[in-house]
Amino acid sequence: MCGIIGYLGDREATPILMESLKRLEYRGYDSAGVAVLELPKAGHANRTSITKSEAKVDTLIEKLEANMPSGKLGIGHTRWATHGKPTYINAHPHTDCHGKIFVVHNGIIENFAELKAELEAAGHEFPSETDTEVVPHLIEANYKGDFLAAVRAALKRIKGAYALAMFSSDDPELLVGARLNAPLVVGLGDGEYYIASDITAIIPYTKRVLVLGEGEVAAVTPLGAEVSTLDGVTVKSKVVHVDWDVAQAQKGGFPHFMLKEIHESPEAVANAMRGRLTDDGAVTFREFDVPDDQLKGITDVLLLGMGTSLHAAMIGEYVIEDWVGLPARAEDASEFRYRRPTVGDHTLNVVITQSGETADRDADGAIYLHSGPEIGVASTKTLLAHMISLYLLALRLATVDGRVSLERRGELVEALRALPDQVRGILARDKEIVELAHKYSGYRNFMFAGRGLDYPVALEGALKLKEISYIHAEGTSGGLLKHGPIALLDEQFPVVAICTASATKDKMVSNVHEIVARSAPVLALVTEGDHSLDGVATDIFRMPAVEEAASAVLNTVMLQLFAYHVAVKLGQNVDQPRNLAKTVTVE
Ligand code: F6R
Repeated sequence: MCGIIGYLGDREATPILMESLKRLEYRGYDSAGVAVLELPKAGHANRTSITKSEAKVDTLIEKLEANMPSGKLGIGHTRWATHGKPTYINAHPHTDCHGKIFVVHNGIIENFAELKAELEAAGHEFPSETDTEVVPHLIEANYKGDFLAAVRAALKRIKGAYALAMFSSDDPELLVGARLNAPLVVGLGDGEYYIASDITAIIPYTKRVLVLGEGEVAAVTPLGAEVSTLDGVTVKSKVVHVDWDVAQAQKGGFPHFMLKEIHESPEAVANAMRGRLTDDGAVTFREFDVPDDQLKGITDVLLLGMGTSLHAAMIGEYVIEDWVGLPARAEDASEFRYRRPTVGDHTLNVVITQSGETADRDADGAIYLHSGPEIGVASTKTLLAHMISLYLLALRLATVDGRVSLERRGELVEALRALPDQVRGILARDKEIVELAHKYSGYRNFMFAGRGLDYPVALEGALKLKEISYIHAEGTSGGLLKHGPIALLDEQFPVVAICTASATKDKMVSNVHEIVARSAPVLALVTEGDHSLDGVATDIFRMPAVEEAASAVLNTVMLQLFAYHVAVKLGQNVDQPRNLAKTVTVE
């Protein structure tokens, strides 16, 4: 949930740390800091300069521009607070008693209280309230002249999750990174090296990275990066070549990443299908190549996700049941992990994540989204890529043994292939959506209602609105409405009712009548040519007449744009909503 960066090379470290922290800010943005080992003056000991801000990275940058530390080795951090408020003292980097060891951290040290008590008893002092601060002190306590050995010894004592970048001012040519249950990459430049939470931070500098494995340590010197285990056994890491470029991690003329990413949806949808789908609905995932007889043995499907990814899981549940005829259930991954679930030996477990980092999940294999980086904290294009991937997974399962005839598969393929252009069609109606968003932006409460596939779409519409505009919004199924939520409705409580084509459309239309009878304003999403709500709903947004699976995608895009424009109208920071972070690596 925090972003970390480290640099060692021939260039000035500070500007590189500043730029990288800006690109990492989506991971957390309540405080920031850097430590730079300054070039020693003759006859003087090495000195490390620490600059921190108890606000966002921009404030840190202002401070650094006013007083720029000069040095070729440095580390930086942008924080999403876990232990301790976002104050100056709690901002990273943290240091040891003698101000020689500097550490930035993403994750949670679960046994920090026990370690802190032990270190305090040995005379160490802890000015901050953070869990991170035990790391430099533990390294200090283990230091016998070899920094790397002290790091290894310290990390063996730590439980929980960490991605760390560290250096000691006694070793001006050594930058150390380490990870456990939190991601970390080592960027290999031309005579210079980086350590970063993710590739986005360093993409302008290099496309060659080493992805550190669990429990591995990277020792970076001017001669290169060496990866080893905590026991000091050398690990041969493969160099990965990144195939996207810096333009994809920038706003490209859009006022916000979120809007840019919504506009990348047609490509995200197309890329999720590319090379995977034939005309008759046969699906091949190169990276998830499970033979038919193994798939035939699957008895049921469990889909796990959180937030937007849980809504994707619910969509997957629906189509797998419908198209494949297998029992499927979507679950909140954070709850599931601590239950005593009854998962059969032949259950296909599908864990869904856009970041790949959410702490509540882990997987053996993967179906990649191919949607490029998503920087806006609110998920948009990645949800669409998830929806398409789950449709394809359902088709893949249905090809083995399913309820979908060859003819029907052909129809579904046609519907999916038409989607990129249809998404473009929704994006082209931005002006209409802006007008609706402005009209509705004054309300403080919203209900989103849908049935079938549009139930999770309604939940997602509500989530998107509340997370970026801070307006209270609830999602409900049309059926559930009468079992409680309808009590909330009055003329100040509008409902966004998704009434596009589905088996339960007529029931949704009846629900709208019930809502209108309670004087609540209704913005209805209705299929072109359907006039059942003319004169009933307050506002109607007409959607193309398409398959239900395709219409769920188009409705999602419309609701993403609606939430975006409401939030912009209210002057909110849509890319960095308060209290949130893009990746949730702590439970
Ligand atoms: C909402 C949002 C979150 C994520 C959730 C899971 O816009 O982005 O609800 O979907 O934090 O994250 P991933 O998919 O990265 O596991």
